[in-house]
Amino acid sequence: MKGVDVIVGLQWGDEGKGKISYVLSKQADAVVRFQGGANAGHTVKIGETRYKFNMLPAGCLAGPRPVIAAGCLLDPEAFEREIKLITSLGVKHKPLVSESTHIILPHHRELDGRIEELRGSEAVGTTRRGIGPAYADKMLRVGIRAGETTDPQLIQSKTQLLQKLHGIDFSVDAEKLRQTISPFVGNVETYLNTVLESGGRVVLEGAQGTLLDIDHGTYPYVTSSNTLAANGFVSTGVAVKWKHSVIGVMKAYATRVGAGPFPTELDGDVAERIREVGGEYGTTTGRPRRVGWLDIPALRYACMVNGVDEIAVTKVDVLNGLSTVKACVGYVVNGVETESFTDCLMMLDDVKPVYVEFPGWSVGDDDWHAAVRNGWDDLPPNAREYLEWVEKTLHVKISLVSVGEEAGLTVQRT
Ligand code: IMP
Repeated sequence: MKGVDVIVGLQWGDEGKGKISYVLSKQADAVVRFQGGANAGHTVKIGETRYKFNMLPAGCLAGPRPVIAAGCLLDPEAFEREIKLITSLGVKHKPLVSESTHIILPHHRELDGRIEELRGSEAVGTTRRGIGPAYADKMLRVGIRAGETTDPQLIQSKTQLLQKLHGIDFSVDAEKLRQTISPFVGNVETYLNTVLESGGRVVLEGAQGTLLDIDHGTYPYVTSSNTLAANGFVSTGVAVKWKHSVIGVMKAYATRVGAGPFPTELDGDVAERIREVGGEYGTTTGRPRRVGWLDIPALRYACMVNGVDEIAVTKVDVLNGLSTVKACVGYVVNGVETESFTDCLMMLDDVKPVYVEFPGWSVGDDDWHAAVRNGWDDLPPNAREYLEWVEKTLHVKISLVSVGEEAGLTVQRT
């Protein structure tokens, strides 16, 4: 199908966008990272091998050309590592990096750490990959862009300005940047709009999640970019006129890594079990993720602000064996019950979730394989009823269900 598929996370990141991007990229011409930098960790498991990406879009393993758009931050070390990875795997298309993409420099990481330390108990829990400071330099119009790496002298003079501005002594290997980055630089706007003009298909692979959006998330406990689907167009320069579909990715439960409000957070045995079975440890930092039940008001908000057309639910298999599964349908705040996420956005720390309960499911691997072969109707009945309730509650169709980490363990709904 021609047009644009925009993949976005509907929660706090780590929804499994890497796998979904891989599945949806099989028929695509290009797959694009459109925000964030090496703070993201997108994983695809093919057969017995797990491939981890921090910088390139994970969907590129399915064949389309990997692209890094203007609104991303390019981490030179992660980029170099992943170029080597895809070269060794025989990925045939040469990656394309926008000339406007800003580069993460050593002082960005240092500042990221310093700001976190200054915040003390209010620390955001960033990945310390320099994301906030690099976007800040971009907005101050002092950043270094990928297109400038052809000119080592320019890099040196801009580095001096940055040193003076931030009062930090650091060095940049301009020649190394030239060698690593400049061969991949080009005009992403022209390339992607030309692909679409000629009837091609483009996948925009979002990173982090809706609730980490700098404007629409749980500020200040957010990342420093817009994670929403609309930014897929702004960042790439793909015109909004192209036919597009927004695919929201959500887990069958919720997780959050880093600080900030999380109304449905669990502790104790159930949390421990979900964390262990689901491998809920940060791909980028290895930190244990906080775990909780599904939060329907937050998901409804995420569907609204992204304009989600279809949902992909991941990790349904992780809840296997629990006697009961819960979902939050509203919050009690100051003694009053509400179903509105926006009413509570400023006081999410103080809300008490209202839950509905569902009977759990307990099945074997064969049952999941049967659902992969035969489709939606062969999902374990209790899991299917839970998912049917979710789509009815959110008023959005679930078109994909992931029932295992491996790329093939996916139930496609026709
Ligand atoms: P930063 O993006 O490193 O500045 O981190 C800001 C917040 O976003 C922290 O709470 C991080 O844990 C969170 N975060 C950043 N990237 C990801 C991600 O890919 N998955 C989940 N959380 C993330």
